[in-house]
Amino acid sequence: MSANKPKLLIIPGDGIGHEVIPQATRVVNWFADNRKIAFDISEGELGVGSYNKHGKTMLPDATLEKSFKSDAILFGAIGGDGYEDIPIDVRRETGLLALRRKLGLFANLRPVVAYDELLDASTLKPEVIKGVDMIIVRELSSGIYFGEPRGIEDLGNGVRRGYNTMSYTTPEIHRVLRISFELARARRNRLCSIEKSNVLETSKLWREEARKIAREEYPDVEFKELIVDAGSMELIRNPKQFDIIVTGNMFGDILSDAAAMLTGSLGMLPSASLSEPDKNGRRNAFYEPVHGAAPDIAGRNIANPLAAILSFAMALRHTFETPDEADLLERAVRDTVARGVRTADIKGTATRAVSTRQMGDAVIESLDRLNA
Ligand code: IPM
Ligand code: MG
Repeated sequence: MSANKPKLLIIPGDGIGHEVIPQATRVVNWFADNRKIAFDISEGELGVGSYNKHGKTMLPDATLEKSFKSDAILFGAIGGDGYEDIPIDVRRETGLLALRRKLGLFANLRPVVAYDELLDASTLKPEVIKGVDMIIVRELSSGIYFGEPRGIEDLGNGVRRGYNTMSYTTPEIHRVLRISFELARARRNRLCSIEKSNVLETSKLWREEARKIAREEYPDVEFKELIVDAGSMELIRNPKQFDIIVTGNMFGDILSDAAAMLTGSLGMLPSASLSEPDKNGRRNAFYEPVHGAAPDIAGRNIANPLAAILSFAMALRHTFETPDEADLLERAVRDTVARGVRTADIKGTATRAVSTRQMGDAVIESLDRLNA
C-alpha cells in the first residue's frame, strides 16, 4: 500500500464538524504512524461556511473534483447558523444531497450498536437495549428527497401548495436490497424490509421486488417485512429482533435518528455511504457521523467525536479493506467508554464529562495500549 497511497479527502463541513473531525484526523494519523497505513490526505470545503465564503454554492468545484478522485471521504456535518437563509434550491443543488447524488451514494449504512457500558446513557430500559447490534441500510440517492416534480406553487387567493414526488425504479430497489442481503449473509443472516406498501405505490413496488429478490437470490436469508409505522414501534419495543433493516430514503432518515436512542446518543452513530462498484470494483465512499452540525453546542469543545472516529473505522473496513485495523479501532472506542470516559451526551450517571479533545486523547491512549 506504500507506493500508491490511498486518497482520503477530509471535509469538516459546518458546526461541530470542525471539532469532531480533527479528533478523527488524529486517529487517521495514529494509524499512519503505528500501523503503516499511510494516506494521501487532502482537505475540502462543503457547507454553510463554504457558501458564505464563495457565495452561490456550498460545494465548490475543487471539492467536487477531489471527491471523485478520492478513495474515501471523511465528512463532519452540514448546517447550523445561516443554513435556513440559503435558498432551498441552492441547498439542494450544491449541498450534501447534491454530493450524495453526484457520487451515486445509494447505500447508506448506519450501524446501531448498544455498548453495555453506555446502557445508562439511554432513556430506554437497559434490558431492552442490551445487546442491540443492527445496521440500518437507508437508500440515499433517490426516493422523495430527489423525486420530480417538486415545488411550492401559488394557487391564487393567498393559497399555496407544496408538493414532492416519491419514486423508486426497479434497479434502484434491486441494488439497495442486494447490498443489504449481502450484509445480512455476512452477519446474522436476517433482513427486514420496511416500507408503506399498504398506502404508497412506490412501496408496493418495493415490496414486490424485495420479495422476488429474497425468493430468487437469497432463499437462505431470513426475510421479514414491516410497514413503517409498525416498524418504528418494533424498533423501540424489541430492537434486538433486528440484524439488517433496509428502507427508503426518508423512512431511513427518521428510523435512524430514533434508533440512535438505542445506543444512548446520536453522538455514537457513524455511517458509510457507498456507490455501485465500477469495473475495477472501486466504489465512491463517504463516511460521516449521523449527528449533524449541532449548532446549539458548536464551538464549545463538548461534542462527542466517537461517531466521527467510528466512521473512520467503517472506512478502514469498507474502503481500505483492513479489517484488523477496523477491529482495533472499534475495540479502542469500546475500551475508552469502558474506562468511564464520557462526553456530556453519554454522561449517564457518570460524575464528570470530558471535552471533545480529551475524548480524542482517550481513544489514542486506548489505541496505544491495545497495540502494545
Ligand atoms: C441525515 C441528515 C440529512 C438528511 C440532512 C442534513 C439533509 O438528517 O444525514 O440523516 O436528511 O439526509
Ligand atoms: Mg437525518
